[in-house]
Amino acid sequence: MADLPGRREEAVARGVTSGPLGLARGEGARLWDENGREYLDFNAGIAVMALGHSHPRVVEAVRRQAGELQHVCFHTALYEGYVALAERLCGLYPGGGAKAALFNSGAEAVENAVKTARRATGKQAVVAFDHAFHGRTLLSMALTGLGKTAKTGFGPYPSDIHHVPFATCAHCPLRLEYPDCGVACAEMLDECFRTRVSQKDTACVVVEPVLGGGGFHVPPPEWLPRIAEICRAHGVLLVADEIQSGLGRTGRMWACDHYGVVPDLICTAKALGGGLPVSGLVGRAEVMDAVEPGGLGSTFGGNPVACAAALAVLDVLDEENLPGRAARLGGEVAARLRQAELPHAEPRGLGLLRGLAVSTPDGGPDGERAKRVVAACREAGLLTSPCGLSGDVVRTLPPLTIPEEELARGLDVLVRAAREA
Ligand SMILES: Cc1ncc(COP(=O)(O)O)c(C=O)c1O
Repeated sequence: MADLPGRREEAVARGVTSGPLGLARGEGARLWDENGREYLDFNAGIAVMALGHSHPRVVEAVRRQAGELQHVCFHTALYEGYVALAERLCGLYPGGGAKAALFNSGAEAVENAVKTARRATGKQAVVAFDHAFHGRTLLSMALTGLGKTAKTGFGPYPSDIHHVPFATCAHCPLRLEYPDCGVACAEMLDECFRTRVSQKDTACVVVEPVLGGGGFHVPPPEWLPRIAEICRAHGVLLVADEIQSGLGRTGRMWACDHYGVVPDLICTAKALGGGLPVSGLVGRAEVMDAVEPGGLGSTFGGNPVACAAALAVLDVLDEENLPGRAARLGGEVAARLRQAELPHAEPRGLGLLRGLAVSTPDGGPDGERAKRVVAACREAGLLTSPCGLSGDVVRTLPPLTIPEEELARGLDVLVRAAREA
């Protein structure tokens, strides 16, 4: 493990960025570096480790499955884990009457959502939102509405993808104030169908119900229902990217549940595999079944070991009511950050999908200050990272299982760092 930064420099392409620490071990919400120094983890692998590191149920499921059947490829044979995980995802679909398919990564789930929506509607255009993040493959990057560095120089991108503003109220695209605005930004979707691409050509709208990488913006309660209504009125499918917001992170199983919206398709990944790569697409059976046999899948998608881990994750989420715990602890995080009355810093988010947006005295996003906060936190033993369009939002994404004392200790560190940076 010696000299990881130097070896990284020599062997790893610089396009793949990484944090500065070499980590060796994790347990719950704690991580240890190669020298044995302990850190609290407010990254959770960017919302992946909902159950914390090395949760015994996930470790046991992985060990057992690895010793029984590691891989066959679902295209060549059936096995229990794939079918059982598809059944579980169908059970979690809020509309009932669902079918599911499994893949490896979030981006792949998004790509397959678009493929499925195109097949089901016979239409091709896709509308997505500014500030949203959907992945780094060419199609998911084309849908992404942020990240100059991540998007520059990789084109041409798939065509017929259109963007409209998200309800980023803290930086309103229309320079209006909620609630006087009447959620006018939602009408930009309708406007898009009138002026830029006809609904007659549009297969789906892809939306993150609450922005993750784009800076933890939570839309007002009326926004997502209005987006869903516009989609329904125009015969356009609604795809929810719940890759970061789903599986309890926001305090409900799906972030859409906060808004009473049932999307036609839901993309899930990140927390699903408890650290193993697996993603899923679940939605209305007639939409999912629009793709003919052979149109979906991959070599590793729904690998038996990843499925075993995912089934353990879903069991624990349910048995320990982790969505409920995320709602309660998220309320405490918000209260703690508000009480701190940090200058030029705004807590944002829902449940344990939280962030602290730091700004300059004149209210502009301050990415440099966010970097200093993250570095000061690391010095003091707390791991977090920046996100948002300007890198101005410091992530507070601990495991949903984090002990309350560790959460409070981490928040103390964050508050001190934000005050001093
Ligand atoms: C909302 C959202 N969608 C899609 C993705 C892409 O997932 P992956 O990195 O697994 O491809 C991410 C990753 O951060 C995400 O946050």
